[in-house]
Amino acid sequence: MDNLVDNLDTLLARIDPTRIPEHVAIIMDGNGRWAAGRGKPRSDGHAEGVSSVHEAVEFSSDLGIKYLTLYAFSNENWRRPRQEVDTLMYLIGWAIERELPDLIRNNVRIRLVGDIERIPADARRRLRDAERDTAGCTGLTLLMCLSYSARWELTEAARSLARRAAAGELDPADISEEMMADRLDTAGVPDPDLLIRTGGEHRISNFLLWQIAYSELYFTPVLWPEFGKEAYARAIIDFQSRERRFGMTSAQVSGLTSDSEK
Ligand code: IPE
Ligand code: IPE
Ligand code: MG
Repeated sequence: MDNLVDNLDTLLARIDPTRIPEHVAIIMDGNGRWAAGRGKPRSDGHAEGVSSVHEAVEFSSDLGIKYLTLYAFSNENWRRPRQEVDTLMYLIGWAIERELPDLIRNNVRIRLVGDIERIPADARRRLRDAERDTAGCTGLTLLMCLSYSARWELTEAARSLARRAAAGELDPADISEEMMADRLDTAGVPDPDLLIRTGGEHRISNFLLWQIAYSELYFTPVLWPEFGKEAYARAIIDFQSRERRFGMTSAQVSGLTSDSEK
């Protein structure tokens, strides 16, 4: 059904407004290949990717999605050439400051996720300002994952529980899944319903390993700078065609099973 003649209105008409995911997470990949395909430097791809972020935030707000988590820079991305890292950090700081008035107007709350202390001071200040200035916003919550990796986050959580146990404040036997979740950067946020990865790779790259235990995964070859509202709408339509069983049977989740069979 999906083809190039689908316009946004046609796609929107296919979205069921009663089954909008509460939380969407996106691995924004493919900026470098988008630029290379045009004979441009990789940084041009990152710059172009900023407008896709703007569109994804706007579309998420319009659909009534409550949480949007964007993977913008991984812990592993620090290994890239110095010049690319510098450009990315500059772009992140510049973009967040430029977008701030719009974010406030649209009632979007920014929450920073990751090892933010590693971000260079200038970009970090702009990010913290945005987090502070949007703290009272009650619409979409935008979780920006920067200098983030899931194994780092899980290790920090383990360390924090171990400290409490060593201090005699916690019996290791009492450690629960909820206590782990409460120590992650995403504490208080429901797990993603839908995880999208653009750019054609079929991997997770150290993103939200705990939180995506039951997320629906959607991979698209569309490169991030070309991921607009149409491509996002297609992901939502695909999500709505899935049956989420959470370990149960199809009959159970569709409510057809009699109580005795449950
Ligand atoms: C995603 O695009 C942005 C970041 C990882 C910061 P890439 O820069 O990874 O683009 P490709 O994968 O090389 O095309
Ligand atoms: C994942 O993309 C990280 C972000 C999108 C921020 P990468 O381009 O870094 O992933 P790999 O290295 O190809 O797995
Ligand atoms: Mg990549």
